[in-house]
Amino acid sequence: MLMPTDTFFTRRRTVRRYSGRQLSDDTLRELFEEASHAPTTGNMQLYSAVVTRSAEMKRRLAPMHFGQPQFQGCQAAVTVCADLRRFTRWCEISGAEAGFDNLQMFFAGVLDAAMFAQQLCTAAESRGLGTCYLGTTTYNAPEIAEALSLPQLVVPVTTVTVGYPDECPADPGRLPVEAIMHQESYEDFSDSRLRELYADKEAREDSRRFVEENSLENLAQVFARVRYPRNPTNASRSRLRLLYARPASISEHH
Ligand SMILES: Cc1cc2nc3c(=O)[nH]c(=O)nc-3n(C[C@H](O)[C@H](O)[C@H](O)COP(=O)(O)O)c2cc1C
Repeated sequence: MLMPTDTFFTRRRTVRRYSGRQLSDDTLRELFEEASHAPTTGNMQLYSAVVTRSAEMKRRLAPMHFGQPQFQGCQAAVTVCADLRRFTRWCEISGAEAGFDNLQMFFAGVLDAAMFAQQLCTAAESRGLGTCYLGTTTYNAPEIAEALSLPQLVVPVTTVTVGYPDECPADPGRLPVEAIMHQESYEDFSDSRLRELYADKEAREDSRRFVEENSLENLAQVFARVRYPRNPTNASRSRLRLLYARPASISEHH
């Protein structure tokens, strides 16, 4: 029997440990087919995705994902890219000039890529597979672009690892809906209301453990100072530089 959709969504978890059960090429292709029906900007599908399955490519890419074990352990890692190239080239060979090398279209490509990625996750999860996004793709975008031979105007956005689950992760919790939902216009929170909204998250046992392990005062410090510290190197190696650093014309490529 199918799970009701509310349960399907509230019970889904990121899965980082996978069993050795094989994921067939046919199933992977079906996931791509279903995910490709995600909405995209002007139905242009401004994304592409590179599948990593071979041990050799996994070994090469693993350090770029900071050795996260789900990358090595998955059946397939799918690196989803904003792809302004395919469409631009189609225009070029059709006597049309697509001025897509700008921030507006880059956002469109990133959105298209993200929605494809999420639909791929949902398609996978609806078959009992588990998935995990790897944010490390944006940290090491230039190196990953090079390893995957991404040409100009193709920028890695995220990687999704896929495999059959070998764990049942606990509920990581979410902020209450009141923290994210605004009616008609955005209403900023008072300090005390903000504290209330984060109170359950701060009270969780795993949160307390993070604070203690890092000898910090509170959970916000764990996120701001340890997990996602300000890093000027990341900013200067941004995806935008990758997009614009190379020569403008791409028409000579076949
Ligand atoms: C853009 C993005 C990047 C992520 N990067 C990582 C990652 O590098 N490693 C990881 O283990 N999980 C990663 N995650 C998974 C999140 O940690 C996870 O979604 C979050 O903790 C909530 O847990 P849940 O998905 O089980 O509800 C990422 C998720 C997103 C959406």
